[in-house]
Amino acid sequence: MENIKINDRLLTAVPLVRKGKRLADIGTDHGYLPIYLIDNGIINSAIAADINRGPLDKAEENIEKYNMTASIKTVLCDGLSGISSVEVDDVAIFGMGGELIIKIIDEAPWLKNTDKRIILQPMTHPEKLREYLANNGFRIIGETLSFDRDKTYQTIAAEYDGIIRHYDNFTLHFGEFIIKEKTDLLVQLLENTKKKLERKIEGKRSGNEDTTAELLLLNEINKYIER
Ligand SMILES: C[S@@+](CC[C@H](N)C(=O)[O-])C[C@H]1O[C@@H](n2cnc3c(N)ncnc32)[C@H](O)[C@@H]1O
Repeated sequence: MENIKINDRLLTAVPLVRKGKRLADIGTDHGYLPIYLIDNGIINSAIAADINRGPLDKAEENIEKYNMTASIKTVLCDGLSGISSVEVDDVAIFGMGGELIIKIIDEAPWLKNTDKRIILQPMTHPEKLREYLANNGFRIIGETLSFDRDKTYQTIAAEYDGIIRHYDNFTLHFGEFIIKEKTDLLVQLLENTKKKLERKIEGKRSGNEDTTAELLLLNEINKYIER
């Protein structure tokens, strides 16, 4: 059997998942992430969970194809509701909206434990997710950007330490680890965000709506690019 290949977006999880720990992949869909991590000797076992039967069937097919039925358990459940805290160390939630990721974390209070790690990839609202983490005592321990099929993705890893933090608006949107270095990928993300903000401002202005938040972020992005 050929080794499994995964895209750059999913690959961002690899350095953030702890070696030898038990992973739960929530919203696993195809199951590629746990299969890849086991295939590459990073972890030995995992739980692949999804709320929908169709995606879980796909994961089960792939798990069989790669002969991993003994090391990957599949669970049909909403978020972490079908998973016990004693079964997992690291939890990956990739490919969902930021607000849904917040809901899933919020409904699993056992994640507020210094032994656990969460690795997240919000498709929308990374700023709301970072704000939630900061307000709930999760320390961000690593962040990366990736690019796949015309879109830039942010991956955020966090662990609970109980300390409430405050980030400025720009950091909430783009992440303290990501903004440390002005990489080409970051500049591309900022330029794309600028275009979206400009369109939003135009639309809001024509409807006489308040554009303060958009103008603030636009100004912060321009300052960062120019510095
Ligand atoms: C866009 S796919 C992402 C798949 C994979 N994690 C990735 O990043 O490539 C989102 C998956 O999340 C699942 N999902 C949506 N809401 C969920 C929830 N509340 N709990 C568990 N899975 C959920 C969907 O069924 C779908 O398979």
